[in-house]
Order: sequence, then C-alpha cells, then structure tokens
Amino acid sequence: MTHVIITGGSSGIGFALASLYAARGARLSLIARSHDLLEQARTDLVRASGCNAEDIRLEAADVAAEADLLAAIRACEFAFGPCDILITSAGIVEPGHFEESDSSAFRRQMETNFSGTVHAVRAVYDGMTRRGRGRIMMISSGAGLIGIYGYSAYCASKFALHGFAQALRFEARPFGVGVSVCFPPDTQTPQFQRELASRPPQAATIMGTVRPWPANAVAKRIANGIERGRFEVHFGATLFLLARFGPAVRPLLNWWFDRAIARADDPDAHNRGVSKRQT
Ligand SMILES: NC(=O)c1ccc[n+]([C@@H]2O[C@H](COP(=O)([O-])OP(=O)(O)OC[C@H]3O[C@@H](n4cnc5c(N)ncnc54)[C@H](OP(=O)(O)O)[C@@H]3O)[C@@H](O)[C@H]2O)c1
Repeated sequence: MTHVIITGGSSGIGFALASLYAARGARLSLIARSHDLLEQARTDLVRASGCNAEDIRLEAADVAAEADLLAAIRACEFAFGPCDILITSAGIVEPGHFEESDSSAFRRQMETNFSGTVHAVRAVYDGMTRRGRGRIMMISSGAGLIGIYGYSAYCASKFALHGFAQALRFEARPFGVGVSVCFPPDTQTPQFQRELASRPPQAATIMGTVRPWPANAVAKRIANGIERGRFEVHFGATLFLLARFGPAVRPLLNWWFDRAIARADDPDAHNRGVSKRQT
C-alpha cells in the first residue's frame, strides 16, 4: 500500500489531499499541531471514504521544531513503512503592512512555511534516495510567483520554496526521487476564511477579482501533478501565464498593481495620479 505523509493534513488543502488518497486506498500519516483537529480529520475521512481508521496515523508535531517533526515522521514510517509520497501542506499566513509586522511574525511564517518544509523533506529524503524512489510535493502559493501588497513575509516564505524545490530537483532526480512544487490560488479553506479578515484592502483589490477554488479541485490537480511527475503544478490560465512569463511582463503588472493600490488607498487618487500613502 502506498504510504502518503501529509503535513498540515488535518485541514484545508492537506485534508482534501488526504480524502483523495484515502479514497484510493493509501495508508495516510497526517501531521499537524492540534491533536483534536487531527482526530476530527480521521473521523471525517473514515466516514466519507469508508477507509479503515487503522490506515490513518496521526502525529501531533510542529513542523518548525525539526527534532519533533523528525521523530513524528520516523514513527509514521515505523508503523506504515517507508514514505512513498510526502506532501508539505502545513502553512500559515499573517497579512499586514511590513512596518506593522514585527520580526516574530516574519519568523513564524518563514519557520513554518519554509523551514517546516525543509525539515519534513530532510526526514524522508535519505530513505527515498537510498531506495531509489519517492515523490515530494511542496505547497507554495500564487504568492510564491508574484509579490503581493501586505504579504511580504508570506511571499518571502513561498518564493523560498520555489528556489529550494528547483535546486533539490536536480540533486534528487539521479536517485529516482521526484521533487515538485505547486502554486495554489486563493482556495476555500479555514485558513483562507481567517486570512480574509486581515487582508489589506489594497491586496483585496488585486486578489479579489479571482474567485477562490474549492479545496478538492486544488487537491485533484496536485495529485494529478504527482502522478504525472510534473515539476511545477499551476492552477488556471492566469497563474500559469504568470509563472511562465511573469518576469517579462512584470513592469506592466507593477504599473497595473500600483494603480489598483492607489485606488484602494484613496478612491479619488487615480484621478489625481497619486497614492495617499505616498503623500
Ligand atoms: N487557502 C489558500 O487560499 C491557499 C492558497 C495558496 C497556498 N496555500 C497554502 O496551502 C497550505 C495549506 O493551507 P490551507 O489553506 O489548507 O490552511 P489550513 O486550512 O489552515 O490548514 C493548515 C494546516 O497546517 C497545519 N499547520 C499549521 N501550522 C503548522 C505547524 N507549525 N506545524 C504543523 N502543522 C501546522 C494546520 O494544523 P494545526 O494548526 O493544528 O497545526 C492545518 O492542518 C499552506 O501552506 C498555505 O500557505 C493556501
């Protein structure tokens, strides 16, 4: 049986992926901090997919704490055998203007989204390269393709994942290990609901035009990307084009975003061609 380890598997995109792999008869290891949320996820998975509760292992651990995460992943592999697929979905977002976000907010997002992914990969990588097989899927974000107003820490953490995945892909490939990264758009999850409450209006003006995706549609595309051995997985034409041609069209995008941000700052600003934050 395929053993799939999912960090952040108790909620949102990670949970949708767990549902999908449970329905395919995989053995699942779910890792997150809240034990209660993990238990609830297992109950829901068993009810929805009819899988056995014994085929779902739960480990409460913080991905930012490397030793704890390593111990959790070791326990999962001891119980269910070597990891065939690792999906790193654990992540947090704390929107806010740079000058209002203190260093701890930056640290939390970097340590969870970036270092937490590196820790999970490190825990399975050695075994995968020795066995000559395995797949790793990192969950970045559309915010890992383009900077977004009010998301400086989050964007930094998600851009970092892209660089990590690009470099690791070259090292892992000769050993038969596949490394992938995906860039989901706004997705209907508990995190997205929480995030909306603190999303700056300037960011809402830019991102509000995109309808959020259902989590199961995002999960399907990610699982499909894993199956086909895709390095990058994109969602929708806009994000695909942004990934392929972003650097070339960035001056145009910057111009368009500046205007949208100025309008959100001050609805009359675009008539005057100035932003309130600049005055
Ligand atoms: N939703 C979107 O619009 C969207 C868009 C693009 C990318 N993403 C990315 O997709 C991933 C999943 O997001 P989501 O929207 O599904 O969020 P979610 O519903 O809040 O789920 C996040 C999961 O990560 C776990 N988690 C958070 N911090 C953790 C930590 N330090 N250690 C271990 N587990 C941790 C949470 O459980 P505990 O809190 O119990 O630990 C939960 O299981 C994230 O990486 C996010 O950045 C989301």
